[in-house]
Formats: sequence, structure tokens, C-alpha cells
Amino acid sequence: MTGETRVLLIVAGGIAAYKALELIRRLREHAVKVRCILTASGAEFVTPLSLSALSEDKVYGELFSLTDEAEMGHIQLSRNAELLVVAPATANLIAKMATGQADDLASTALLATDKEVLIAPAMNVRMWEHPATRANIETLRSRGVRVVGPNEGDMACGEFGFGRMAEPDEIVTAILEALGRTRPSGNDSNGTPLTGRPSAGRPLTGRSALVTSGPTHEAIDPVRYIANRSSGRQGHAIAQALAALGARTTLVTGPTELRDPANMDVIHIESAEEMLAACEGALPVDIAVCAAAVADWRAATPSDRKIKKTGDAAYGAAEGVPRLELTANPDILARLSQRGNDRPALVVGFAAETENVILQATEKRLRKRCDWIVANDVSAQSGTFGGSDNSVHVIDEQGVDSWERMSKSDVARRLAERIADHLESPAAP
Ligand code: CTP
Repeated sequence: MTGETRVLLIVAGGIAAYKALELIRRLREHAVKVRCILTASGAEFVTPLSLSALSEDKVYGELFSLTDEAEMGHIQLSRNAELLVVAPATANLIAKMATGQADDLASTALLATDKEVLIAPAMNVRMWEHPATRANIETLRSRGVRVVGPNEGDMACGEFGFGRMAEPDEIVTAILEALGRTRPSGNDSNGTPLTGRPSAGRPLTGRSALVTSGPTHEAIDPVRYIANRSSGRQGHAIAQALAALGARTTLVTGPTELRDPANMDVIHIESAEEMLAACEGALPVDIAVCAAAVADWRAATPSDRKIKKTGDAAYGAAEGVPRLELTANPDILARLSQRGNDRPALVVGFAAETENVILQATEKRLRKRCDWIVANDVSAQSGTFGGSDNSVHVIDEQGVDSWERMSKSDVARRLAERIADHLESPAAP
């Protein structure tokens, strides 16, 4: 499966499993190679043979199949794809994902993956509305799992409501978005090339973007570091939103628990100095968004051996408690904003403030010389750090645009659209 976009499709048990066949066919039209895992209950609804015929590949089913493990271990299976898709995703498999269970090949692959995951839930409306399922879906969303559907309608069980799996077309759109496809490639079912069709809704096609995200870790010694509470969710969501609008995106991220988004270059760094070097290495770009919570200071002289509790001559041995001397880190946003010829056309910073949010952020925009600053309240009562919602004010030279409280992914989408509108406007470079 080299050289092609690869998706691992997990088909769980449910009447909607038959739609997985159409899904594979549509994905193949978009030149997406599909490899399938069929759960034991999924096999009650569709046969391995039909999945295999459409995917033109072997279908995997058992965790401890000796032949399967020899050919392709379960870890490799989940890592060989760019995206994992679960369609249909049953209440049971969703619960297993939320609680980290791994008792069959599907759940094991989902736990072992380092790739993005997209699920298309399908179940009875009462099961979908049950607080247990709601909580499980929330857990998965907060970990960055994409959820498409379910839709409202008549159900196989005779009830009406939300629970019908999204249609294959909707799932394909969500998959292509997750993969950051700027344009569909391949042929449709009539043999007409999809490549080169107008890329509706992808106004950043042809543009490049750099996004910083997450905290930085500044070493004190080999085991200790200075860090902060940033989860990286906002920065990762912005990178995904820019990529979804067609931008060729580089994400430079500090250590987070988030998975690497599928559709961009991801550079992992630890310290502010490494982040600066990675950002400078990614230039030139059209758009830079600095959403990382970069540590303002680092240890002036990090120790290359563990500082001992009982006293260490170099670090204030007399008291036994080390004296930590700090030095300032480079300001990446300011550096990018103040570059010469290769300054990005639009530089966007964030301002994390606990008081006088708009005033401080306005002052920060002028001081760092970025074009826009997105101000957010990170006081303890705001729940922004580590939470899934954000309430922001976008400040540019025209003034302040205050947005209602919304999820971090909605903030990201709206910001990416604002960026696209700005770059499309005649005055923009
Ligand atoms: N930033 C950066 N490099 C740094 C510090 C901050 O790129 N060394 C960026 C952040 O990514 C963010 C913006 O600068 O886009 C503002 O970060 P913030 O923490 O609010 O401001 P500071 O510059 O750290 O100022 P202060 O902590 O005094 O408010």
C-alpha cells in the first residue's frame, strides 16, 4: 500500500454495516486505499469476502490469528494507515474506545494507533441518547476523535430519532477533510477524473501555514523541567482547520497528549529554542499562527546530571535546596513578526491573560508587531487551559471582534475562515 493514501476501516456490528461497502467504493474513487478490520459482530452483517472484493485487500478479523500476525501485526496494521475510520461505530465499540479496552483486533488497533481516528456512530436512538454514550462521545471528542453523524431518521428497529449512521457521502467528505485533501483525486464511478475539479470551500489552496501549539518543556536537569498547563488543543485545532481549508500546513508542537493530525507536517520539539529553530526552518509561509504556550524562561545552566536533593555544589549546595537561575527564552511570535523579506503575510498571535484581557492583548499586539492577536481569558475560573471551550476576542488594527463562547474547534474553524477571507481580500498580499 505504499505511495497511496491509506485508511484503515473498522467495520463493527450493526445493520448499517452494509453501508461500509459503498463507503469503500467511494473512497477508492478518491484514490484512497482501504484496508478493513471486520469485528466478529460485524461479520454477522457483511461478509469478509465482499469487503475484500471491494477493497482489493485481505480483511483482518482475529487478534491472535497466527497467519495475520506473521504477515501484518496488529500494531503495524494501525500504524500503516494515515487515518482510522470506524463505520459503523457501535455503542459497544465506542465504550471500549473511551475506556481503553483492547479485547479484539478492532479495539486493539484503536488503542495502539498513533494516527487520527474518525467514527461514524450507528445505534438505536435510546442508546445514542444514554448518558453513558454521551459521556463516552465527549471523552473521545476531547481526545481529538472526529465524529460524523449520526443522522436523524427512521431506524431499522422501528423507532425514530438520532442514531442512523451518516451516509457514505458524508463520511467520505469527513475522511477527505481529515486527510486534508486539497482536491479529490482519482475517478468517479463514471470514469470522470475528480482531480482538477474546483475546490469548493478550500480557499487556502496554494497557501502555506505554520502553527505553533502546546507547551514547551525547559530542562532543569535530565529528569526535571519547567512547563505549563497548555493542552495544545487550540493550536492543533487551528492547524487542522487551516489544512481543511486547503493550506499546506506545518505544525510545530511541544509535548502534548494529542495525536498528530493526518494531513500536515508535524514537527515535535521540547524547548522554546527548538521551537524557534523549527519555525524558522519552515519559512517562508503565508500564514503563521503562534498558539503555543512557550515558556518565557528556561534554566540558565541546565545540568546534564540529576541535581541531588542532598546538596549540589553547582546549585546552592549550602542549603541543600538548589537555586534555579533563569534566563529569557526567545519570543517566537515577535521574531516571526519582525522578520524581513520572509515575514509571513499574516502573523497571528494569542494572548493568554488573566486580567484586563483586551487592554493587555492590544498592547501585546503592538509590542510584538503581529497582525492579529487572539485574546483569551485563562484565569482559573475561565476553564480555558485544558478545557474544550474558549471565549476569545480577535484584535487587529481595525479594532476588537469579540466572539461568543464556543468550542476550541469552532474557534479554530472561524479563525481559519477569517484568515482565508483576509487573504482573499484585494488589499491582502
Ligand atoms: N510567544 C512566543 N514565544 C514566547 C512567548 C510567547 O511565540 N517566548 C507567543 C505565544 O505563542 C502567543 C503570544 O506570544 O501567541 C503571547 O503569549 P503570552 O504568554 O500571552 O504572552 P507573553 O509574551 O508570554 O507575555 P506575558 O506572559 O507577560 O503576558
